[in-house]
Order: sequence, then structure tokens, then C-alpha cells
Amino acid sequence: MSKTVAFHLQKGGVGKTTISGTLACQSALEGHKTLVIDCDPQGNLSSWFLKDPPKYELSDVLQGRCYVGNAIVVAPELENLSILPTFGIGGTLKNYSETKLAEEPFILQDLVKEVSEEYEHIILDLSPGLGRLERSALIASDEIVTPMTPEVFSLDGLEIFIDELAKLKKNMRAAVKHNKIIINSYDERIRQHRDIFSAAESSGRFLVYRIPVDPLFRKAQEAGRIPQLYKVRGRGMKNATQQAIMDLDSCIWR
Ligand SMILES: Nc1ncnc2c1ncn2[C@@H]1O[C@H](COP(=O)(O)OP(=O)(O)OP(=O)(O)O)[C@@H](O)[C@H]1O
Ligand SMILES: [Mg+2]
Repeated sequence: MSKTVAFHLQKGGVGKTTISGTLACQSALEGHKTLVIDCDPQGNLSSWFLKDPPKYELSDVLQGRCYVGNAIVVAPELENLSILPTFGIGGTLKNYSETKLAEEPFILQDLVKEVSEEYEHIILDLSPGLGRLERSALIASDEIVTPMTPEVFSLDGLEIFIDELAKLKKNMRAAVKHNKIIINSYDERIRQHRDIFSAAESSGRFLVYRIPVDPLFRKAQEAGRIPQLYKVRGRGMKNATQQAIMDLDSCIWR
């Protein structure tokens, strides 16, 4: 059975794209047919994995300009990883979400249903915020996992998200699971990071995961490569990062 997951918090720069992309690679490396739908008008995930802008993108599918199968592309290094891309230049997804999406809030849910026969694991990468596009993507998901950075206001941001998500689920009658958070860019040596992790865990409301701070992520993104396979001067991802990604992968898809 297929499962769809979105990694989301309304805050920018918390690692949504890094985690979406890395977990999609992990799922594909483990042999699962995996699709990432790039729902971010900035198109960061697409430009990370794809060198050339493909002929069609997500907004073409949403506007009926092509079949979904014509827009999906296989990632160059991983045959189990496919991407339904978005290219930021031109802003077609942004235009669509500001105009026509209001009339069809369930369009992403329908799209996910359409591809779920073919892909075991589907990941949605969203832009920051909680606008129409993000809401449509959230209700298209089976599960939302929230990444956050270990900063002073991060737990406040999480409370706002929980509140907004409850309203969205009620209004749209959506049964989306939300019981996991990820403290990203975690550094055990920093007391504030340890305190935020403890506070999140002791609330008892979430399963709390940590992804270590690891410069390999940025380097792999700059090089357009799969983080798990990329090495700089013989050095790849830290062992602790690899372990955290594998643990998260097994908890999310089991
Ligand atoms: N665990 C990590 N260790 C080190 N750097 C990280 C880590 N996670 C993310 N980064 C870096 O932080 C930056 C922001 O990450 P990312 O683009 O994934 O955030 P985002 O939430 O998707 O941002 P946006 O809200 O703009 O979509 C990137 O440069 C990325 O390489
Ligand atoms: Mg992003």
C-alpha cells in the first residue's frame, strides 16, 4: 500500500527540502519505488536532483496541460527515485496557486491518488507558510512530520502549526497523522539544543527524532548529488547522520 508524507512547518529554512530529499533517497536506496512531488514554487528540490529543466512540471499537470506520467522524471543516480518537478523560474506554480487553486482545493489529493498505484512512498516538499498550496498538500498526505531547528522560538512555531493543522483537519475533514517531530541540525555539544530536545520529548505529545548538523547536506545539494552516495575528499555523511536517516526511514514507512 502506498503512503504519502509531507515534512512541514510554516517556518522557512528548517530543513524541509533537505529532509524530504534525503529520506526520498533513503527510501529509493532501500528498494522502494519513491516519488517526490515538488510543491514548492521555489523548486529547490528539483534543482537539487535534476540538472536540466524538464519539458513539463507540476503546474502543467495541475492545469491539465499534460498527463502526470509525462511530467514525472527519474532521478539520474537512483532508478527508484522519481520526481514530479517544479522550476522556480517563470513562477507558474505560484501563479496557479494564487488563482485557480482556490476552486479546486482537493486537486493534490486527487493527484496523489492517481500516482499511488505506481509508487509505494510519496513525499511532498512544501514551501514555508500555510497558504492555499501548502494546505492542499497537507490534506493530500497520510502523515505530516514536522522538522524544526533547535532555536529559541522553534517550540512556539510548533504550537502555531499544531493549532492551524487542527483547524485545517476539522474544516477539510482530513484524517492526517501528526505525531513525529525532527530536531534538525542538532549538535549534542550545545546546551540549548539538548534543552529543546528534552522539552519536546518531555511534552509527551510527539516522538522526537534528531538529525545532526552535517555540512555534507549543503555540499551534496551544491553538487546536485544524493547525500548518502556523495563524498568530498573521501568523506561522506557522518555515521550519526546516516544512522538518524535510517532510523527515521524505518519509523516513517513501517
Ligand atoms: N542537518 C543539517 N546539517 C547542516 N545543514 C543543514 C541540515 N539540514 C539543512 N541544512 C542546510 O540548511 C539550509 C536550509 O535547508 P532547507 O533548504 O532544507 O530548508 P527548508 O525548510 O526547505 O527551506 P525553505 O523554507 O526555504 O523551503 C540548506 O543550506 C541546507 O543545506
Ligand atoms: Mg525547502
